Amino acid sequence: MRLLLASAALLAAGVGAVAAQDAVRTGPAAPELAEGKAVYAHWCAPCHAAEPSLPGTMSLAAKYDGSDIPAALEDRTDLSAPVIGVFVRNGVAWMPPFRPTEISDAELAQLSAYLTAPLEDRGAHTPLLADEMVQLHGGSSE
Ligand code: HEC
Repeated sequence: MRLLLASAALLAAGVGAVAAQDAVRTGPAAPELAEGKAVYAHWCAPCHAAEPSLPGTMSLAAKYDGSDIPAALEDRTDLSAPVIGVFVRNGVAWMPPFRPTEISDAELAQLSAYLTAPLEDRGAHTPLLADEMVQLHGGSSE
């Protein structure tokens, strides 16, 4: 009986955690994160959005297979501004480096603020660009 109660409690906790995850990823980002989210949507989401077939998301899914680090950058809580800066300015694998004429230092700071903010402040996942959706899903609306 004790065991049964314990597993029922665990199950309830698990269901709660899933619901909480869903609940936090809706709506717009907190106002102070809007600029950074726009930078992310323009420069990063085409490779890193929460869509498994994108190059960045696919590579990171392989890299972190078996760990609890999520594949989509927008779901990460382990990144820091210095780490993001190194990758953005230097690139890695197929990821190109971004020059300050493309992403200014101010925009990089906003981008980093967005990617390091508490999940519940980030709002809904950044949608893919419309034409990428057509390419990926043959025009079907998901
Ligand atoms: C052309 C596609 C592409 C674009 C655009 C791109 N990335 Fe990447 N990014 C990748 C790939 C591929 C990797 C994974 C390389 C690997 O397997 O280690 C990666 C890796 C990373 C990593 C390392 C994560 C880790 O844990 O190893 C960070 C951080 C990152 N990208 C941030 C960004 C940011 C921020 C932007 C937007 C400014 C961006 N990327 C734009 C393709 C891209």
